Amino acid sequence: MPEALLRYERLAAELAGMIADGVLASGDRLPSVRRLAQERRVSVSTVVQALRQLEDRGMVEARPQSGHFVRRPMPLRPEPLLRPTPEGAVPVDISQRLMRILQAGTRPGVAPLAAALPASSLLPVAALHRLYAGVARRHPKLLEGGSHVNMDEPALVRQLVRRSLAWGGPLPADEFVITNSCTEALGLCLRAVTKPGDSVAVESPAYYLMLQLLETLGLKALEIPTDPRSGISVEALDLATRNGGIAACLIVSNGSNPLGCVMPDARKRQFAELTAVRGIAVIEDDIYGDLHLEGDRPWPIKAFDRTGNVMLCSSFSKSLSPSLRIGFIAAGRHRAAIALQKTVTSGGTNPLTQLVLAEYLESGGYERRLRTLRRAYGQQVEAMRLAVGRHFPAATRIAQPQAGYVMWVELPEEMDTMRSYERAIAENLAYVPGELFSASGMYRNCLRLNCGNPHSPKIEDAVRRLGRIFSTP
Ligand SMILES: Cc1ncc(COP(=O)(O)O)c(C=O)c1O
Repeated sequence: MPEALLRYERLAAELAGMIADGVLASGDRLPSVRRLAQERRVSVSTVVQALRQLEDRGMVEARPQSGHFVRRPMPLRPEPLLRPTPEGAVPVDISQRLMRILQAGTRPGVAPLAAALPASSLLPVAALHRLYAGVARRHPKLLEGGSHVNMDEPALVRQLVRRSLAWGGPLPADEFVITNSCTEALGLCLRAVTKPGDSVAVESPAYYLMLQLLETLGLKALEIPTDPRSGISVEALDLATRNGGIAACLIVSNGSNPLGCVMPDARKRQFAELTAVRGIAVIEDDIYGDLHLEGDRPWPIKAFDRTGNVMLCSSFSKSLSPSLRIGFIAAGRHRAAIALQKTVTSGGTNPLTQLVLAEYLESGGYERRLRTLRRAYGQQVEAMRLAVGRHFPAATRIAQPQAGYVMWVELPEEMDTMRSYERAIAENLAYVPGELFSASGMYRNCLRLNCGNPHSPKIEDAVRRLGRIFSTP
């Protein structure tokens, strides 16, 4: 067992091993907290934490006055399958429906299962407050002016160059453009390499914000079949782009939203080579790259780019705070066109926040934070998978995210998740209906759930009530 595990994690792993090996069988009562603490020579709170972790994973349940029991094993649900997509690019029209859904999902009292937001308890809010106060004090001239042409803070760019070692870099400092969020980064890239009427290839299902960007920029979407395990089909992209006519491809190769899949390196390499040969500009969104749930930090497609064709976009919205609104682009050979778009869009990016982020990254706290987040998101995703397995109809398929914290769920064919949404929101339950992840109205029987919050009795109850709604078409 790895030494780096905390004491309670070691105990949880030992108990999980005994359950997996059948030493502790379904329905068995675990030794009491006190006895476990004595026998393992650990504190009572260590045992309590270990048991809580097993509860979150759905392996044991606490019964009032009786102790902890091994749960009945959940049948593993199958994963969704790769689906064929329509031929040819189509205009996008999802924004009105989407905005209604997202706004309703943030009403007070609604279970937080729609937007992909982390729980505030997982964010380093106090540390960021301290840094804001310190930076404002130490840089009194910060708000006295700015060029509005190049406001990228060298200290932040230096930190990004250092971080890029883990992305197959180092990337050169002069490739970077600092942006207001990943959303702005994606929009700037699209505007730099496309013109209205162009067609852009996207994963299918695709992150709805990417579809909205295409919609508002007058671009068409070419949906490419995407495997829930290995990501976009390079073979299908090859076939669909044989006759040219595709200006760009938007892709989330590490933790696609909504599938959560991570493309294997060999596929990323093929993808980089194919798009370079075909002259298709690649806009890669790596916002979940640091939030991988398995193995080492996966490289982005950018690591396999030999021609400067890939624009790597990301932000700290998922790992530090969505309110920072700081993102960046490693822009490759499109740097000049993107810098121009940045100048005419927002001039620059708030220097105070850039310095706060630079100091946070320099302090080394970020790596610690990522470890904590990855552990929390891994547990939350697993707890959600088990809860959906317990409460949703028998023929449901559930994706197994390898990065990030959203979960794609496929219900029986006859279900329509847009229609069910009205019933759900009336009960203060929210999710994002599957058809909003497609330009051509696919995925009507699917939905995406946010697993950004610690699993709690409230979330379990929300999933249970959703399951009841989906059990009656
Ligand atoms: C894949 C992906 N890209 C971008 C974003 C938006 O990031 P930001 O808040 O930095 O604009 C999200 C948020 O859900 C996302 O899931």
